[in-house]
Amino acid sequence: MSFRTTTSIDYVENVSPGSGALPPRAWYASSDSTSLSLNGNWCFRLSATADAEDDSFAEEGYDAGDWAEVSVPGHWVLQGHGAPIYTNHLYPFPVDPPRVPTENPTGDHLRFFDLPSDWPSDGGVVLRFDGVESCARVWLNGTDIGEFKGSRLPHEFAVGHLLKPSGNVLAVRVHQWSAGSYLEDQDQWWLPGIFRDVTLLHRPAGGVLDFFVHASYDHVTGEGTLRVDSDVDGRVTLPALDIDVATGETATVAVRPWTAEVPHLYDGVLATEGERVPLRIGFRTVELADGLIKVNGKAVLFKGVNRHEWHPEKGRALDLETMREDVLLMKRHNINAVRTSHYPPHPAFLDLCDEYGLWVIDECDLETHGFTEQAWRDNPVDNERWTPALLDRAARMVERDKNHPSVVIWSLGNEAGTGRGLTAMAEWIRGRDGSRLIHYEGDINCRDTDMYARMYADHAEVERIGRGLDGGSLKRRHLPFILCEYGHAMGNGPGGIADYQRLFESYDRIQGGFIWEWIDHGIKDERYGFAYGGDFGEELHDGNFVCDGLLFPDRTPSPGLVEYKKVIEPVRMAGEGADGTVRVTNAYDFADLSALAFEWSYQVDGETVETGALTVPALGPGESAEVKLPTPPADAHGAETQWTVRAVLAAGTAWAPQGHEVAWTQIPVDERPLARMVQSDGPVLGGRRITLGPASFDARTGALNTIGGVDVTGPRLDVWRAPTDNDNGAHWQPDERYGLLWRKLGLHRMRHRLNAVELGDDALTVRTRVAPAAWEVGLRTVYRWTSDGTRLRLTVSVAPEGDWTLPLPRLGIRLGLSGSADRVKWFGGGPGEGYPDTKSASRVARWDSTVDALQTPYVRPQENGARADVRWAEIGGLRVEGDPSFWFTARRWTTEQLDAAEHLTDLAPGDTVWVNLDHGQQGIGSQSCGPGALPQYQLRAAPAEFSFVFSEIHG
Ligand code: GAL
Ligand code: MG
Repeated sequence: MSFRTTTSIDYVENVSPGSGALPPRAWYASSDSTSLSLNGNWCFRLSATADAEDDSFAEEGYDAGDWAEVSVPGHWVLQGHGAPIYTNHLYPFPVDPPRVPTENPTGDHLRFFDLPSDWPSDGGVVLRFDGVESCARVWLNGTDIGEFKGSRLPHEFAVGHLLKPSGNVLAVRVHQWSAGSYLEDQDQWWLPGIFRDVTLLHRPAGGVLDFFVHASYDHVTGEGTLRVDSDVDGRVTLPALDIDVATGETATVAVRPWTAEVPHLYDGVLATEGERVPLRIGFRTVELADGLIKVNGKAVLFKGVNRHEWHPEKGRALDLETMREDVLLMKRHNINAVRTSHYPPHPAFLDLCDEYGLWVIDECDLETHGFTEQAWRDNPVDNERWTPALLDRAARMVERDKNHPSVVIWSLGNEAGTGRGLTAMAEWIRGRDGSRLIHYEGDINCRDTDMYARMYADHAEVERIGRGLDGGSLKRRHLPFILCEYGHAMGNGPGGIADYQRLFESYDRIQGGFIWEWIDHGIKDERYGFAYGGDFGEELHDGNFVCDGLLFPDRTPSPGLVEYKKVIEPVRMAGEGADGTVRVTNAYDFADLSALAFEWSYQVDGETVETGALTVPALGPGESAEVKLPTPPADAHGAETQWTVRAVLAAGTAWAPQGHEVAWTQIPVDERPLARMVQSDGPVLGGRRITLGPASFDARTGALNTIGGVDVTGPRLDVWRAPTDNDNGAHWQPDERYGLLWRKLGLHRMRHRLNAVELGDDALTVRTRVAPAAWEVGLRTVYRWTSDGTRLRLTVSVAPEGDWTLPLPRLGIRLGLSGSADRVKWFGGGPGEGYPDTKSASRVARWDSTVDALQTPYVRPQENGARADVRWAEIGGLRVEGDPSFWFTARRWTTEQLDAAEHLTDLAPGDTVWVNLDHGQQGIGSQSCGPGALPQYQLRAAPAEFSFVFSEIHG
């Protein structure tokens, strides 16, 4: 015998997308119909299971007096009820589709509302949910109006017949887990709740229902063709183009096309008998032609990012200003494309993309990645039972977003294996909208897609693909290629993106890529600053893999974003100082250079001595010109000199002010003369001290103690760095993961054996062997100190012994200065950090900073903050000149403390500022998900010699 509880919860585990909702349609704002936002504070009750409570709460007159409150849009787990869970691809519940656990956090939500007094009495009313995770059942005034799944997709219900002028009760029961969860296994936090807007829309009689704007551009004739298909007949007007046609009719006139670079939109109106809907129309044509993705007849190069919706306090409940901030930050960093990984974003984001200009790959809310653990057995995308749910998702995306010119590609989803369901989605989409291309990375043979897409392919493979040597199906061989994900921006990095960009620009077939990803999904947290996976006691989690963005969680750009901006700059400039010319190339696909002003400046030892305007012709896309630089300002002999040329906005745009820098280059003229020092003094032994010029050493150990009045701890050889996420690599990476191997070898616990302290006539020489316990490998290290009476020169010679099979993390010296050494000035690369394969954006100049501001706050602490190509630096009363230039790092904690820290809050400043002066740094790469550092950026253990000249700064 079996019993049923009063509330049937079958719908939760049903593969059906739901029942009761209206057919999907375009998302638009009406200009003259009324609406009521139901966002705000809702009454809230959390239950541990889907059926713990019956549905009486939905009835009128229910007393919710003892309920909590949550704000909608929002996630209850970020508002003190339950906790978020982070997994990358593992389902945080047993894989038993379509069943979900009995422990199924269920949030009952109640909203009481009156209709505004001017709410029209005619027509109908639609209740719209823009996003609820993961499954909701809805009652209005006690009537069950339906249930739905598809978290990041809109659902609408006709509710006019149920509404009252006042005292309405909207009840929404939201289940964290449902059959839909199997389709939503994206790499992100699991965050249940009503996380997008809830709106009541008045629908006037004779109002607009759904409509489809078809606005193409013929690049041969320069004409645009407009046709608006509408469920309800009406007229379409575009005053600027003198268009006034009936819906369904075509108008062809000369237009300015829409592109991401020049996003020209025409304002128009769709008017039916009962309603006027504003239109923002962009004319553009997307096609696959000559094996390339073309817009308006031209191949485009995507300089993209993958964007998840994220806010450190609100999760995926983003307000309009945050969305706008994302778009502005993208535009200001030369980004021209966004893949909405891995679900359709809040629809307002796409309005912004239309307006400011970004190419969009709109991706469906579909991922079944966890099935990979069982060789994709029972994958929903290959099981007919689920196909209606997949088609529902495809339709909800396409219908909602079809009128956005920015959307040029539909993506079926992400990491869902392969199967008939995906093919059905592609067929449906093609039938509904033949005007865009289709993407899906998992379709390796491109059966259903219009482009070959991969993620994290290494440089060599991308090059093979560019050359057409990658084989593949016949269809694939004729298709263009994109890297839908690359440059994994986890922690310090990504490294090697300039090398990718060179490949993208060398092969037509490669149409660019999308960095993974836009923003770290760190959660603001009192305990940790920002929390990541595991910080909420999850039984399964993937740690800080959720923090892999170009922005920190609070939207501060990381060095990775600054690097990306430089790598993808739309103007290429290069020159030879001796020629006095700069070659300028327009790397836009559509725009000429007329929006930019060019400036030159001339630096002597890093200080700008003169600046001026540079006249550059308004080159068309792809065109280049040699532009003569002025005669260099007065002879600065004995100094290092260079040109800096910048391209800035000539006038303010919608996304940045006049003068905003778009591109730059530096052209060296005279090289830096190396620090010469004529040795004069010799070391003198006196008791327990040796003095040499301004310095004093410990006679027994040969350790430097002071330079003039400056106390110095150390200095000695240092090869360790707190491994970066990219050093550590992901556990599935097939190749060597140096972060782990270094630790195994013991590079973090090197011993310094003293072999000799030798007082020569002209030098103090200290001979050591630096090596880890247990192994035969070591670094024979000789410190040779000389002085000219006021300055002190250290030459370090390093000779590896034994069989070194690994690169070194770093090679240089570390020294400690007093904690008051809190400011740094330097001449070299800046203002931000740079490593061998991440220093495109490092600009040679004079910089200054506090020690605190040199730190890059990676959410999980790790090596950071090196300044590249430093000629000299001044800190704590000391000046250090490098021969050759060096990498400079200073921090208030040791590398060992940095290494041990798991959150920024673990780092406590000590009494010493630790300074690393490095001759070499290992490259960064992107092995946290992708290839490691390319060979040319590896720091091999090899004989090396480098010098520093120290002097005390007086005054
Ligand atoms: C990809 C996936 C992304 C993310 C990334 C690693 O495989 O599509 O969602 O998991 O790897 O951060
Ligand atoms: Mg995944």
